[in-house]
Amino acid sequence: MDKKVLITGGAGFIGSHLIRLFVNKYPNYAIFNLDKLTYAGNLENLKDVENKSNYKFIKGDINDAQFVNELFLEHQFDSVIHLAAESHVDRSITDPLAFIYTNIIGTVNLLNAAKDIWNSKYEGKKFYHISTDEVYGSLAEDGFFLETTSYDPQSPYSASKASSDHFVRAYGNTYGIPVVVSNCSNNYGPNQFPEKLIPLIIHNILHNKSLPIYGDGKYTRDWLWVKDHAMAIDTIFHQGKIGETYNIGGFNEWKNIDIVLLICKLLDEKLGNPSGTSAQLITYVIDRPGHDRRYAIDASKLKNELNWTPSITFEEGIEQTISWYLDNQQWLDNVTSGDYLQYYQQQYQTK
Ligand code: NAD
Ligand code: DAU
Repeated sequence: MDKKVLITGGAGFIGSHLIRLFVNKYPNYAIFNLDKLTYAGNLENLKDVENKSNYKFIKGDINDAQFVNELFLEHQFDSVIHLAAESHVDRSITDPLAFIYTNIIGTVNLLNAAKDIWNSKYEGKKFYHISTDEVYGSLAEDGFFLETTSYDPQSPYSASKASSDHFVRAYGNTYGIPVVVSNCSNNYGPNQFPEKLIPLIIHNILHNKSLPIYGDGKYTRDWLWVKDHAMAIDTIFHQGKIGETYNIGGFNEWKNIDIVLLICKLLDEKLGNPSGTSAQLITYVIDRPGHDRRYAIDASKLKNELNWTPSITFEEGIEQTISWYLDNQQWLDNVTSGDYLQYYQQQYQTK
């Protein structure tokens, strides 16, 4: 095997697309997927690659330092692509500590294990940390996040991700660990847990439930097809310069209400319902506390230096996403039981 790559959080939304890409594209890499399988981790996402000879799943918690150290000792990974995280802003508002443990301490546990095992012999080694555009804070009507934009996180989630980014860079600076960081905008596509806007709206339309819009619905996000994020990670992993940060974005800004109306229209067409049926479910609810108004990524560094651009348009991506959820309603039903039902009742009870 040419490389031993540890991917953390590989049973989650983005991680599972990345695992699939790497396992299929790099038969000469040994790919290890370390995941705790929280409510957001789902091995059903990886059924098509689970028996491949270059893939191994390891169930474990990055918060357990001893376990992480022993794992690195046993497998001698030469590369880490770190995605495992608590990833939902609303959950970070009700339970910030879970985000501090996994996103900060978990990341530092991985850095410590890599530092100890690599022991200053850094040739061929890489620690690639996957982060978010939310670390830059909130934009008004104009402007874009650049790699040089100062950090200004506004939610417990983004504060924990910002902290983890700082630790990764500090370990690069202090111990010489070869680190790379990327900060990406909102992803969408198959296998996204229906607590996030797009799958939540699709799920609720399919179940004739109200479509909750926070505040005035004019909050803006830049949406990227999840497989394009996976391809950007592949590009940065192989060609990104050590010590650098790369912004990843879809060049694709939408106000929340416009995206919800688009999904309503497309689902009415696909389900053969009269136009306007799904939109009747739209319900404006109490805003998310501290809600960031607008995110917009300038991904021109990645485009100019590493020649990456999104491979499909939003129109294609959203169509494929809706079709996937229609074809995989059993997947949706499986993940919307248990913990999620409890969370959903709590999150939306007062709105
Ligand atoms: P996700 O919530 O779908 O998946 C997270 C995965 O991490 C799950 O499989 C979960 O089981 C695992 N995990 C959580 N805690 C763990 C722990 N303590 N030990 C081991 N595994 C653990 O998240 P996602 O949306 O796929 O995001 C993946 C990464 O990308 C995160 O770091 C997130 O901050 C970042 N990111 C996400 C987006 C987005 O739009 N979803 C955008 C930019 C960056
Ligand atoms: O920008 C990247 C980030 O995008 C990632 O780092 C996070 O992991 C990911 O969860 C996502 O964060 P957001 O908070 O932007 O995503 P979410 O899907 O939760 O919300 C998108 C927008 O929709 C946001 O403005 C809040 C709004 N919203 C969300 C939900 C769940 C609603 O109006 N109603 C809802 O019910």
